[in-house]
Amino acid sequence: MAGLGAPLQPEEIQKRVQAGRLGKRIHYFSEIDSTNLFAFRRAQQGGEEGETVIAESQTQGKGRMGRSWFSPPCLNLYLSVILRPKLAPVHAPQITLMSAVALAETIQSFLASPPSIKWPNDIMVHGKKLAGILTESSCEPGRLHFVVVGIGVNLNLPSELLPESIRDRATSLLILTERPVDRTAFAWQLIQDLDRCYGELEGRGFPWIARRWESFFELRGKRVKVEMADQSLSGTARGIDGDGALILERDGGALQRIVAGDVIPLEP
Ligand code: BTN
Repeated sequence: MAGLGAPLQPEEIQKRVQAGRLGKRIHYFSEIDSTNLFAFRRAQQGGEEGETVIAESQTQGKGRMGRSWFSPPCLNLYLSVILRPKLAPVHAPQITLMSAVALAETIQSFLASPPSIKWPNDIMVHGKKLAGILTESSCEPGRLHFVVVGIGVNLNLPSELLPESIRDRATSLLILTERPVDRTAFAWQLIQDLDRCYGELEGRGFPWIARRWESFFELRGKRVKVEMADQSLSGTARGIDGDGALILERDGGALQRIVAGDVIPLEP
């Protein structure tokens, strides 16, 4: 098993995922601004579906809602994939939820207890965030050009290296299992799971993915607060609709679709 801080082996990842659509071509960097930025630029220049970008560290790692993503070298996984789904732009969120299912299933195979998904795509274990997904897309009215799925997973990050600002909210596989993870094995397993779930979304449709997503969703029926750019709402989380929007039941019974925001549990 590769030790703590050992670099990834991109040739090994490539060899193992050769049969699939994703990961056939891997762009590997020891340092980059952001794997999402690189993948987005590649896709704009005609990069193909399945091209995958992996970096040991990011200088401008991007999180959701304009936040940054902590990206120290040789400890975690920072990976972005170019997809060109045959979906209308309005259905692009299905790709985020599909990716969350794939990521949760990969993580599950490295952990004794299953993770949960906090809508839309935070992967949580024991109430702390282990991984996140940032999907960015390019489209014109009625046509989706491409989607970049960017995934960050805390793998061999020791608690003392977690910045103070996120120490009580974030975790890593190392912290959870007290053993270093083989990051190369994690990366190829994730690419394979993404490939499989993407195929299932195409072949079986979104309801198949949505059912699996809901099996990881622990906040169903719980009171939550949803913080959006311009307002915050509270209510009961009822699940997701056919496009992956969160259904929030407001006090008084009205149902409201939420398409972007942060969900904060208000009860255990
Ligand atoms: C979140 O805020 O939960 C999303 C975090 C996504 C981080 C990943 S790391 C790889 C890819 N490149 C980026 O700049 N961001 C995503």
